[in-house]
Amino acid sequence: MPEIRFYNREPVPVEMHKVKIVQKLTLLPGKERLAKMREAGFNTFLLHNGDIFMDMLTDSGVNAMSDNMQSAMLRADDAYAGSETFYRMRDKLEEIFGIGNLLPTHQGRACEHIIAQHLVRPGSCVIMNYHFTTSKAHVTRLGGHVEELVKDEGLIPKSDLPFKGNIDLDKVKACIAKEGAENIAYMRLEAGTNLIGGQPISYENMKAATELAKANGILTVLDASLLQDNLYFIKTREEGMQDKSIAEITRMIADLFDMIYFSARKFGFGRGGGILIRDEKLFHEMEDYITMFEGFLTYGGMSVKEMEALIIGFEETMDMDIISQGPQFIAHCVKELDALGVPMITPGGGLGAHIDARQMVDHIPSEQYPAGSLVAALYLCGGIRGMERGTLSEERNPDGSERIASVEMVRLAFPRRVFTLSQTEYVIDRVKWLYDHRHMIGGLRFVHEPKTLRFFTGRLEPVSDWPERLLAAYEADFGTDQ
Ligand code: F0G
Repeated sequence: MPEIRFYNREPVPVEMHKVKIVQKLTLLPGKERLAKMREAGFNTFLLHNGDIFMDMLTDSGVNAMSDNMQSAMLRADDAYAGSETFYRMRDKLEEIFGIGNLLPTHQGRACEHIIAQHLVRPGSCVIMNYHFTTSKAHVTRLGGHVEELVKDEGLIPKSDLPFKGNIDLDKVKACIAKEGAENIAYMRLEAGTNLIGGQPISYENMKAATELAKANGILTVLDASLLQDNLYFIKTREEGMQDKSIAEITRMIADLFDMIYFSARKFGFGRGGGILIRDEKLFHEMEDYITMFEGFLTYGGMSVKEMEALIIGFEETMDMDIISQGPQFIAHCVKELDALGVPMITPGGGLGAHIDARQMVDHIPSEQYPAGSLVAALYLCGGIRGMERGTLSEERNPDGSERIASVEMVRLAFPRRVFTLSQTEYVIDRVKWLYDHRHMIGGLRFVHEPKTLRFFTGRLEPVSDWPERLLAAYEADFGTDQ
């Protein structure tokens, strides 16, 4: 879907849907936000949603359903075993991906748990273009390790490369030679590479990488959680793809992989997950994990109503009008902020706009979590909840030292079909204000630090009284009521 053209002004993205159900938002006064931030240990994951004006933490499980998805929920066939809804879901996924062997799960990390549990042994290597927090945690938990082989250029924050998620084929060859193909449990390619800013992989690159894997007998796995954004980018950016439909591109991608899994909290606008497994024998070997950890084979921990909605959601994912909305709003936000001088990850990707925190608050040492500090400041100054994606999201090295993230950023997620353009403009305004006052932002330190996935539940405190001073400057500009 090309952006709507305008008569006598610069075009802006236009919502290709109308609002039918709304949720009231509240913007707490600054002093109350500071109190809430303290209660949450300066960790935006621990805030209550009612205390947030714009929740841009994630695009996971918070995408807006369509009228058709909601109405489909009424026909859900509730059954412990043999639900007709499951078979409809399986058939829809087979129609889209060409694989009918479906293991249903309650969400994406459950797929990662099961795939890793079955394939990873102590000492195994898993090749990835880039890790996602949970996909890596499941490999390391079992004594395996992850080799992240994204091209170096993918990690350069400011760039105009169309496919920053591409894996480096030379690095893959070197890795296979070093580790030995038999020690490589699988190659996992992540569409819409989350932790480097929702950056896509090209079809060409997926094809070459999976061919290389196959030539070495290595199993290929696609993390399709963010596939919908990646599909939009392939269609709009990759040479030779403009004339192909989204469904055709999806099928071309799917044909490259032995296994495809997804978080339906992103893919399909609902909540749930699933693994598609091409090989019949492998599929049956992995069934046991579903009945042990997830639920019976025909719901896998999902609500059947949600599954029924997902069937429509998957179909909507094949609609260019629908999937172009997220990337177009994000591109607008990134372009505006970039023009205002704010260091953004460019080009804009899927799932959210990303601020290069390492550059924006370069006076904060990595050990004091620049992105964590910036994300806390953004809640204080505007009631916007983003997500830290940097050193705080890493786990410490075995010797206890900090593992400094290669990319240190704040993610402002755009849940799909949720926010309007004026809300996007508000975010641009507050981020710009914060940029102009960036030197007032200070660091954070842990007061409670969990060993695994510490960013979820860890508690921190500011290293000085910078939050009070920053808020005073904010109130001088905007008043005490907002
Ligand atoms: N893979 C990718 C690429 C993801 O982005 C996520 C989740 C998962 C797997 C795990 O799926 O949450 O359903 O268990 N990403 C969320 C986020 C949490 O906020 O980016 P899940």
